Amino acid sequence: MKLTLNSPLDMHLHLRDGKMLDDIAKYSAKSFAGALIMPNLIPPVTTIKAIIEYKERILKACNGEIFTPYMSLFFKESYTPEFLRDAKPFISAVKLYPSGVTTNSEGGVSSIDIKKLAHIFEAMSELGIPLCVHGETDGFVMDREKEFSAVYESIASAFPKLTIIMEHITTKESAELLKKYDNLYATITLHHLLITLDDVAGGLLNPHLFCKPIAKTYKDREALVQIAINADKKVMFGSDSAPHLASKKECCGCAAGIFTAPIALSALAELFEKHNKLTNLQAFASDNARNIYNITPPKKEVVLRKKEQTIPKEFEGVVPMFAEKRLTWSIEQIY
Ligand code: DOR
Ligand code: ZN
Repeated sequence: MKLTLNSPLDMHLHLRDGKMLDDIAKYSAKSFAGALIMPNLIPPVTTIKAIIEYKERILKACNGEIFTPYMSLFFKESYTPEFLRDAKPFISAVKLYPSGVTTNSEGGVSSIDIKKLAHIFEAMSELGIPLCVHGETDGFVMDREKEFSAVYESIASAFPKLTIIMEHITTKESAELLKKYDNLYATITLHHLLITLDDVAGGLLNPHLFCKPIAKTYKDREALVQIAINADKKVMFGSDSAPHLASKKECCGCAAGIFTAPIALSALAELFEKHNKLTNLQAFASDNARNIYNITPPKKEVVLRKKEQTIPKEFEGVVPMFAEKRLTWSIEQIY
């Protein structure tokens, strides 16, 4: 059994910077044609100069692979319509983090006051710049995404021309909210399609499955799987692959983030095949993103085959999801 994917895209990717970037960029650049790059560096990416220079460092780390980094700016309340207009040619999105909700988000927005931010949302609507959002409150960990849905609703209804992307959705309610507003879209990660809170903390604690938003219930996972495998045009693949060195995960105060870049496409093929929906993977892992972001990625064909592989124990000091476990699909060739 074989599947050829045309120009797969990962619309939510953490590539980091410095040595980590140089070490791990290849795992995405090899098998994906492009990815939306997250801006939560230290300091966050908030200027045109920083975007241009970070993109150059990414391309250098990709070492000639055919791969387009679609850049995102880290949302600041101080952005002006003029700045956004000047930034537009260099970016594909602006990513909004509520302050302190996840890794390196301290410089995010302290309270989302729609009236105060209206000029920014209006400028983004007019310029056609999508707003990507980490949608969590600082409430009880299992309820944070649910509590944030009121914010999504108010932005989506007040700015109907603004493309809003609910990043890494994890709940049944989020999957349902998508249907309510034409301008709401979502990314879904590999891990939220595969795991629940039981895998993280139901037995022995597994730090390599700890992420934000935390994995939820079986019912939530099933709702995500259904919209992903049925080629719902409102959702696209965004791995949220987020590498941290093993020493930052296997410790007290474990960093949030799951590294999935090297296994993403094989694991997605396994999941879609299990549900008899293999042919819908092209929509989920590329076509929907092209339509939502209005992008044309470079040509790259990834041939996957049903062939067992054992996931390595680590990649450059980073432990991947499902290390040392088996996958039934493998990447056979890339053109
Ligand atoms: O688990 C996560 N890790 N969630 C995020 O939102 C950020 C990411 C990271 O940067 O490590
Ligand atoms: Zn992320």
